[in-house]
Amino acid sequence: MSDRPVGANAEPAGEIRLESLTKTYGRVTALDGLDLVVRPGELLTLVGPSGSGKSTVLRLIAGLDRPDQGRVLVDGVDVGRVPPHRRAVAMVFQDYALYPHLTVRDNLLFGPQVRRVPRAEAARQVRDAAARLDIADLLDRYPDQMSGGQRQRVALARALVRRPNVYLLDEPLASLDAQLRFSTRADLLAMHRALGTTMVHVTHDQAEAMTLGDRVAVLDGGRVRQVGVPQQVYDEPADLVVARFLGSPPMNLVPGGGVFGATSDTTVGVRPEDLAVDPEGPVEVTVEAVEPLGSEAILLTRCGDDIRLAVRTGPRPGVGAGDRLRLRPDPDRIHRFDTETGLRR
Ligand SMILES: Nc1ncnc2c1ncn2[C@@H]1O[C@H](COP(=O)(O)OP(=O)(O)O)[C@@H](O)[C@H]1O
Ligand SMILES: [Mg+2]
Repeated sequence: MSDRPVGANAEPAGEIRLESLTKTYGRVTALDGLDLVVRPGELLTLVGPSGSGKSTVLRLIAGLDRPDQGRVLVDGVDVGRVPPHRRAVAMVFQDYALYPHLTVRDNLLFGPQVRRVPRAEAARQVRDAAARLDIADLLDRYPDQMSGGQRQRVALARALVRRPNVYLLDEPLASLDAQLRFSTRADLLAMHRALGTTMVHVTHDQAEAMTLGDRVAVLDGGRVRQVGVPQQVYDEPADLVVARFLGSPPMNLVPGGGVFGATSDTTVGVRPEDLAVDPEGPVEVTVEAVEPLGSEAILLTRCGDDIRLAVRTGPRPGVGAGDRLRLRPDPDRIHRFDTETGLRR
């Protein structure tokens, strides 16, 4: 056997195929027959609520944990018996997982040293990664002498030094403040473009999923509910879980259709931006509250006793609580789901 990590010399590089993965922890089913293919070179975002199995998926790909059933294939090779350090995979954790007693330089050198990379070559790899992530002036600092954003860059640089065929990023932006999250998001995209390496990025933030992934996979209950280009998944959610999860405020869902006219076994969905205020509109509502968001406003309205509808409007809607309005749904953007199974109709 060569010293090359498994998956490091195959073409195309960095395809991941997950087949019927099942994983339980005691009585908890973390993954429940999960299937997913990550294409070589793509940035795929795994999104789902907390506890939906996202980190478990990454741990199984990295080899930090083993599935009860199912297979993980990297570039067509079943890596079930390959230990983590021999997989061409690097993982970045939300909490950075840097060694606190080592400087940035030594944190970055740690992996190459363990892998017995010659000293000069290791130094070159560290310089290259530090330059790419703009942390060259931080190499002598310790982790507790840096901000969260800087630590995150070091964690990314450490993954770069591994030169893997696959990057696994577990909520890498979650502990950054909003401003930094925005700029680091752009850095991640630039890094992916420059490297062209497969990345699986995990987040529970639907906005991050919409903006970062070439494709997005929505996870719930240890299964993939839908995979696709973000806008396509947003426009045509495959089921009620996906419909609820992507979009903020979430899609308005009306069981039985109510004012949107449907049979009792159908749930009708309309996104807040697909409801227009229109004096001639067919749906009469009362405004309960207005949420000004600067660039837009959300009207929280009530239609009859039990239907609440959120409406996205321009920044200065000129209405207030108690006002009565009429709404017109965009007829091309009405979603219908089977209430029983949740599946799109
Ligand atoms: N080591 C573990 N021991 C017990 N339960 C676990 C362990 N790891 C994960 N779980 C459980 O498995 C489910 C999925 O976890 P996880 O993959 O971490 O979800 P996510 O990353 O989407 O929040 C959760 O219910 C979690 O509590
Ligand atoms: Mg997690």
